[in-house]
Amino acid sequence: DWTPAHFITSTVEAIKKQVGDGHAICALSGGVDSAVAAVLVSRAIGDRLTCIFVNNGVLRKNEFEQVQNNMRKKLGLKVVAVDASKRFLSQLGGITDPETKRKIIGREFITVFDDEAARILADQEKNGELQHDAAGNEIAWLVQGTLYPDVIESSSVKGPSQTIKSHHNVGGLPENMKLKLIEPLRDLFKDEVRRVGRDLGMPEEVLERQPFPGPGLAVRIVGEITPERVEILQNADDIVVSEIKKAGLYKQIWQSFAVLLPVKSVGVMGDQRTYAYTCAVRAVHSDDGMTADWVPLPYEVLKTISSRIVNEVRGINRVVYDITSKPPGTIEWE
Ligand code: XMP
Repeated sequence: DWTPAHFITSTVEAIKKQVGDGHAICALSGGVDSAVAAVLVSRAIGDRLTCIFVNNGVLRKNEFEQVQNNMRKKLGLKVVAVDASKRFLSQLGGITDPETKRKIIGREFITVFDDEAARILADQEKNGELQHDAAGNEIAWLVQGTLYPDVIESSSVKGPSQTIKSHHNVGGLPENMKLKLIEPLRDLFKDEVRRVGRDLGMPEEVLERQPFPGPGLAVRIVGEITPERVEILQNADDIVVSEIKKAGLYKQIWQSFAVLLPVKSVGVMGDQRTYAYTCAVRAVHSDDGMTADWVPLPYEVLKTISSRIVNEVRGINRVVYDITSKPPGTIEWE
């Protein structure tokens, strides 16, 4: 019989055996899979696991700090946080094509992650901490939160998360260094991952987080991404999510978020005429992201979201609600 407790015991034992006194690194996305994978490995090898969390400049409001805080204080992980937002945002400057945005973010992520991993491993090598194989090569381990559906159908995940999943080798490593892959979740489905996480004592805030795409807010800013637009969307999105949570709807909705449109329209605020951006609010029910229905949010919730966004977010003067299901729409706007 499969139980989370059995799974945890046997997986931690297996990782202990596999890794021995070796060192591992792991990329945290802020999502549940990489967090559960990291916690399992840290149960086996403690702080010989180093996690890397990258700020790609298109995270949600306060997410860079919140994820670090959760992972360090609540999960006890050793986390190296890399704020690469300037670099990502400068690469994204002037880009409007959705797939190009994804490619840039995927490519930059790999470069930043590789540099950081290589630096960490080079330090450990200098300290004589790394294991060696029979041929004398240094060995380290790379943890990935690959799930069973990713194993059987890697096309179910698009963009950077797919890239990192197939990214079994870190460039820029010292010569003679080999990375070996640990994928502790590769036999599990998402609901099993959550059960394992719950058994590991992980906070509900991490376990019940709605899916968030690897390219983040970049695919929710239609048109060009600028630091100003990112901040506008972060503020609007924060209102959408917090009002949905306040209404007790967050857990039953697959994804709920704001999208920033490049459309400006005329409004009036006090006795001032405004000319500002439009924000679309999107909320969908789905089982797996492949199909989705728009959620008939209560009018009261929509009303609060709309008036809060228009009153509190400078740069937005109009809010619309997306009532498109998938198909024919997609969940994201890009
Ligand atoms: P669409 O917009 O295609 O999205 O209906 C389906 C699900 O996939 C997520 N999504 C992504 N996830 N990288 C990701 O890691 C991406 O590039 C990406 N694009 C879409 C989306 O949030 C939804 O859950």
